Amino acid sequence: MDALLARYQQLRHYSLALASPLTAEDQCVQSMPDASPTKWHLGHTTWFFETIVLQAFAPGYVPWDNRLAYLFNSYYEALGPRHPRPQRGLLTRPALAEIHAYRQHVDAAMATLITHLDDAHPALPLIALGLNHEQQHQELLLTDVLHLFFSNPLLPAYGALPDACRAPAAPLLTPAPQALQWLRFEGGAVQAGCDDAADGVQAFAFDNETPRHLRQVAPFQLAHRLVNCGEYLAFVNDGAYANPMLWLSDGWALVQAQAWAAPLYWIAPGDPRCPSDAWQVFGLQGVQPLDLLAPVTHLSFYEAAAYAEWAGARLPTEFEWEHACGASALADMLGQAWQWTRSAYEPYPGFRPRSGAVREYNGKFMVGQQVLRGSSLATPAGHSRATYRNFFPPATRWQFSGLRLAQ
Ligand SMILES: [Fe+2]
Repeated sequence: MDALLARYQQLRHYSLALASPLTAEDQCVQSMPDASPTKWHLGHTTWFFETIVLQAFAPGYVPWDNRLAYLFNSYYEALGPRHPRPQRGLLTRPALAEIHAYRQHVDAAMATLITHLDDAHPALPLIALGLNHEQQHQELLLTDVLHLFFSNPLLPAYGALPDACRAPAAPLLTPAPQALQWLRFEGGAVQAGCDDAADGVQAFAFDNETPRHLRQVAPFQLAHRLVNCGEYLAFVNDGAYANPMLWLSDGWALVQAQAWAAPLYWIAPGDPRCPSDAWQVFGLQGVQPLDLLAPVTHLSFYEAAAYAEWAGARLPTEFEWEHACGASALADMLGQAWQWTRSAYEPYPGFRPRSGAVREYNGKFMVGQQVLRGSSLATPAGHSRATYRNFFPPATRWQFSGLRLAQ
């Protein structure tokens, strides 16, 4: 179990490394109900190991503070009542130093447990889930900080991502000067998803990726790269945000109600916060000139769908995307931007959630959301795969979400 312990410790350390450029104030504030403070992410991921692993499998484990279960339970009805999500930013206590001490307490107990496990121990799938859960929160920590910093008129920069655990093949910007090319796929009965058994430390998949099954896919074409900012700027300049013909009805309502005129973090010429004659974009590095060749990100599903309509194309289904990911060698399927698909987030045929409290992990969210495929530059190393199903409501804009066209 030495390898598992090393992985546990490295991965847990990466959460702290991600938080390290942030002040204690940065880590406490919540910029909107959908986002969580960094401090909450650090506490909640720790609570997950304490509750799901240690309290079930470590005899004699003593919780660090029983009151924290109420603060750090996210959405598990089976695990009792919880602090309201929109009020996570009110938690000035426990102090950040106490959250760090909580993490150390749980990490010490986890190290003892892992050291004594054998290869078939029933705790292993839950430890694997806890590690993948922490990786999901590592990306959320970054997207939430980005939203927080964009809400500050000073527009502070987060800076460079820490090296350890960062996805190795994810340059921040893709040089993509080529005109868009279409790759043709024959389709047919294609494999989708993962085996039920893929819940271990070596070959992990979330339950929403199971079971593996066949899908009938008609012949299709997929763009050889993501839609870039230059192309999206042409869509903006063509008056797309004032043209209801391009939009799904719910999307058009949001364009009007929230005065959407560009992707979430684009800054229009003349914006008084950071004067410039040209479009700029806010990111982890702060305000930068808009890179026309970089993948466009921070789009809602509605914007992605409207762009596809404008471009005379469509969004791929998640099954087209997965088939193409396995059958091609496209460099930017993973590691650049999540890609909205036209697929609603539904259970696969024969889907069975995991048992116990973690049956609530994915299954109960399978309504009213769209699937995103791929991964982003903020996704930790080792957390990307062709079968991964991310999901968000269609209005969501604060994730690293872009698009790839299909036809
Ligand atoms: Fe969580």
